Amino acid sequence: MPGPGGLLMLSDALTTDLSSFFGTVKCVYLDPPYYTGDRFSIRMRVGEEGWANNSRLLTLPAYDDFAGASRETYLSFLRGIITLSHKLLTDDGSFFLHLDYRASAHARLLCDEIFGESNFINDIIWSYQTGGRSKRYFSRKHDTILFYGKTPDRYFDITQVPSRRKKDHNNHMKRQVDEKGRSYRSIQSGGKTYTYYDDEPSYPDDVWTDVSQMQQRDPQRTGYPTQKPQMLLDRIIRCCTKEDDLVADLMCGSGTTLVSASANNRRFLGLDTSPHALSVSRKRLHTVGHHVLAPLSDVSAMVDAGVLPGIGFYDVDLNAYTLPSGAFDSLETTPKDMPIHGLDAVDQWYAGLLSDTTFHVYASAVRTKQSPALPRTLKVPLLRGTVGIMIIDVLGNRTFWTASSQV
Ligand SMILES: C[S@@+](CC[C@H](N)C(=O)[O-])C[C@H]1O[C@@H](n2cnc3c(N)ncnc32)[C@H](O)[C@@H]1O
Repeated sequence: MPGPGGLLMLSDALTTDLSSFFGTVKCVYLDPPYYTGDRFSIRMRVGEEGWANNSRLLTLPAYDDFAGASRETYLSFLRGIITLSHKLLTDDGSFFLHLDYRASAHARLLCDEIFGESNFINDIIWSYQTGGRSKRYFSRKHDTILFYGKTPDRYFDITQVPSRRKKDHNNHMKRQVDEKGRSYRSIQSGGKTYTYYDDEPSYPDDVWTDVSQMQQRDPQRTGYPTQKPQMLLDRIIRCCTKEDDLVADLMCGSGTTLVSASANNRRFLGLDTSPHALSVSRKRLHTVGHHVLAPLSDVSAMVDAGVLPGIGFYDVDLNAYTLPSGAFDSLETTPKDMPIHGLDAVDQWYAGLLSDTTFHVYASAVRTKQSPALPRTLKVPLLRGTVGIMIIDVLGNRTFWTASSQV
């Protein structure tokens, strides 16, 4: 994946000092907790077998959606993140707040207050068919995405997001072919004739029915709860930013916004409080240059690794990574009492050079459904610096090791 890269931070959006980014972000997309009261968990695949056939899993807490919290507490959180987003935006920037029926009405009033009613642009309805159905009420099959501009000068180019013409849109219109052989449909209304050529691009309105939710077997699926499809973010990012602009997601979860920003050649800023969110996002972005600000974990794991200088490269071998006994005791595992040895507990590892307190990554190995086995050897160029390896394990711990010690 190309892309100019960005910054990923393991931190709380409301307590992190982001003042150096004020006035620099062209698009903020927020998909915060929706006030469901749920405690979301992630089902983490373990080892080569787990990744190959989903047979070995760990269930870990991912994030808490205001379980037991009052509405006032939730609304004060929303006010905080909307205010921060407003400060981050450039004068021609756009804000998208993704919620559902639980809080969208409250959020609309908060956004009107913070952005100004006149900067409200759209109440986008994202409609989908997944999830259960009810007979007690009309099944809830949409989310709401509130769209605001920072000022009336916001940048917006709908031609960047052509979409398929809605099927029923043209059904009642007369189909014809013009003298050049182009087929079109037309309708007369209020004394005017409206003509729609079949070969002309169509653009989305504010009801999005053509973006499907993540399916169970979707190859994009990371296992992170409430992950959004990349197509949704592609549409948002393409219409309100240009290449190289900065896109921010202050609660990035599995990193969908950052992946979309990279795929569309935009820079990104991503934050989340969950180490699992960071771990999944890192993995999805491992081919994109980016900085990560996250404290190392305080875990006393043991590593068996070696470094062999060759011609032009160091061969860095990772043989085993062992977490302290009992590390998995309080967790639900599938199968029960699942043995974890060798490199099973490693989800991803990176090799590189440490110089001037910065770790420069030169090679990465991550487990995915397509490549469940983790390469044991990575190559690092013979340049100045201390060879180091960074390991992210299945519990979300991030540790850093140099030839003789753990840092
Ligand atoms: C609905 S999920 C985001 C899912 C994401 N859009 C995706 O596609 O994967 C909400 C995220 O907000 C994060 N979060 C909650 N409170 C936060 C805070 N104060 N600062 C940063 N992240 C926070 C949670 O950890 C969770 O990952």
